[in-house]
Amino acid sequence: MNAAVSPARAEPIVALHDAGRFFQLGETRIEALRHVTLSVLPGDFLAIWGPSGSGKSTLLNLLGLIDAPSYGRVLFRGRPVDRLDDNALSDYRSSEIGFVFQNFNLIPVLTALENVMLPLYNQGVGKAEARGRAEQWLRKVGLDGFVDHPPEKLSGGQRQRVAIARAMVTEPSLIIADEPTANLDSQTSCEVIDLMHTLNQKTRVTFVLSTHDPRLLARVSRHLELRDGQIHQDTVGAGLPS
Ligand SMILES: Nc1ncnc2c1ncn2[C@@H]1O[C@H](COP(=O)(O)OP(=O)(O)OP(=O)(O)O)[C@@H](O)[C@H]1O
Ligand SMILES: [Mg+2]
Repeated sequence: MNAAVSPARAEPIVALHDAGRFFQLGETRIEALRHVTLSVLPGDFLAIWGPSGSGKSTLLNLLGLIDAPSYGRVLFRGRPVDRLDDNALSDYRSSEIGFVFQNFNLIPVLTALENVMLPLYNQGVGKAEARGRAEQWLRKVGLDGFVDHPPEKLSGGQRQRVAIARAMVTEPSLIIADEPTANLDSQTSCEVIDLMHTLNQKTRVTFVLSTHDPRLLARVSRHLELRDGQIHQDTVGAGLPS
């Protein structure tokens, strides 16, 4: 296991400075996120929670560089994202960030192995190497017997494991997961949470998750509560937030 990084000295992976996001629907402006300042540190296992509509997915989209704020700043490894050109942005997204979604977002016509190989192809990695690395990751998430299965022949938990392998295969520094256990039963949720927790501990990959799931909230080391698009509490420490 790597040596602990002092949060005081670690450079944030991604940070927001007084950032907000609104959506204009005709005459109505929806303030999805308001004046949020936040630093995500290396090794964080951070859950964003709060009521439906409080801005969790909007915040994840900003942290994952798939959306831009309406005002304020996003810094990735200290660099202002609004100053990056499209190539630099897409390089960050493909090499530094992995995504996991509630509905898995696997490609149905591809096997588990091919789904995991895809991000490596997108980076220009050759077929033999991509296959080897994807097989390794499927083994690490406990799916070595299922490489040739298409998603429809896998259970929900197995699909989410494939999605986690796909997110990890490029060895990113940050995984963004939007309600990763919302479509899973209780037992399977616990297994998927354990898998993410182990990956966080072993590889120090940073996880930022959104969730309504108390089991997941009980396992993370930092809780960020959103209310009406604003940070209500940001608590470091294991266990359920008060
Ligand atoms: N593309 C959009 N266009 C218009 N309004 C949007 C858009 N995306 C989000 N919103 C609005 O912004 C607010 C925050 O939405 P968001 O999806 O971030 O909430 P959430 O906390 O993820 O909710 P849930 O728990 O239901 O997933 C909501 O009022 C939502 O309707
Ligand atoms: Mg959401």
